[in-house]
Amino acid sequence: THQWRGIIEEYRDRLPVTATTPVVSLGEGGTPLVRAQVLSERTGCEVYLKVEGANPTGSFKDRGMTMAITRAKEEGAKAVICASTGNTSASAAAYAVRAGMVCAVLVPQGKIALGKMGQALVHGAKILQVDGNFDDCLTLARSLSDNYPVALVNSVNPVRIEGQKTAAFEIADALGDAPDIHVLPVGNAGNITAYWKGYKEYAADELATHTPRMWGYQASGAAPIVRGEVVKDPSTVATAIRIGNPASWDFALAARDESGGHIDEVTDRQILAAYRLLASQEGVFVEPASAASVAGLLKAVEEGKVDGGQRIVCTVTGNGLKDPEWATAGAPPATAVPVDAGIAAEKLGLA
Ligand code: F0G
Repeated sequence: THQWRGIIEEYRDRLPVTATTPVVSLGEGGTPLVRAQVLSERTGCEVYLKVEGANPTGSFKDRGMTMAITRAKEEGAKAVICASTGNTSASAAAYAVRAGMVCAVLVPQGKIALGKMGQALVHGAKILQVDGNFDDCLTLARSLSDNYPVALVNSVNPVRIEGQKTAAFEIADALGDAPDIHVLPVGNAGNITAYWKGYKEYAADELATHTPRMWGYQASGAAPIVRGEVVKDPSTVATAIRIGNPASWDFALAARDESGGHIDEVTDRQILAAYRLLASQEGVFVEPASAASVAGLLKAVEEGKVDGGQRIVCTVTGNGLKDPEWATAGAPPATAVPVDAGIAAEKLGLA
């Protein structure tokens, strides 16, 4: 049988674990790499989507969290804490349950998607809604973990990056080499850091012939790396990447520069257009922040920055079900009918 065993077992020799490390896993990773038909046509390239919403809690965070909670358990931690725009907290809450640990989460008040709040709640996390943004939450989480017996599981914890780099391994394994370009949304900048580390390791060990150019996209209202300065009051519909002072800023710049890539911005309008295109034309339902990668690719195509014939992978980071509000917003209610095939056929335009 070929049951996927989770990223730690699948890539054990490339991760900081030993034979006695108590692995905490929900079977994360092994996510689909889906060939995007419409995007391939539009770009003249071979475009793939790495569908990270297929992870156990619905986002890429699970790759980092299996490592973070595993190592926290190994070190004897009884409690973990994180700041989050929603996905990290959902993931931490679930993996803490598996490990028998207490989980505390700090989220920006009123600025996290309903599905993500539901996940933290149902997994029994202790939730504080902070009167501030994500950056304030992270400052608070760091201070609490410095002064109290609670382990920080944000991506400033380097083992999170180790776990997340496995997505690059999976892509290179599936394609037989690294892609030419890798596109992804950037928030706190942990994920672009992780992919770049993964691709570099594979190239160094000759499991890939080259590394891709890394293209990162921030939301225009939350684009500190693009602006070159902290954004004090970040704003975007893509709440997952509503971040004004990314913790892995310098690592993101290194990924950009070493790979010959770029970090640019996309507007909320471009993000929502890509969100709708993915759902209505590719059959892939992602949350708005995830669509920033595809919005960025389409922007680059319009600007003439994409030569045809390349292999491009866009990471779509989180599941659309986490934030269904954007799917239903502005849509008329579905047509009501009695239990009558004639009327149903007529309303469906079949008759
Ligand atoms: N996409 C989604 C769906 C996210 O949840 C995040 C980050 C990102 C992209 C950006 O990734 O921070 O590594 O650059 N979410 C964090 C959280 C901040 O708390 O869930 P990044």
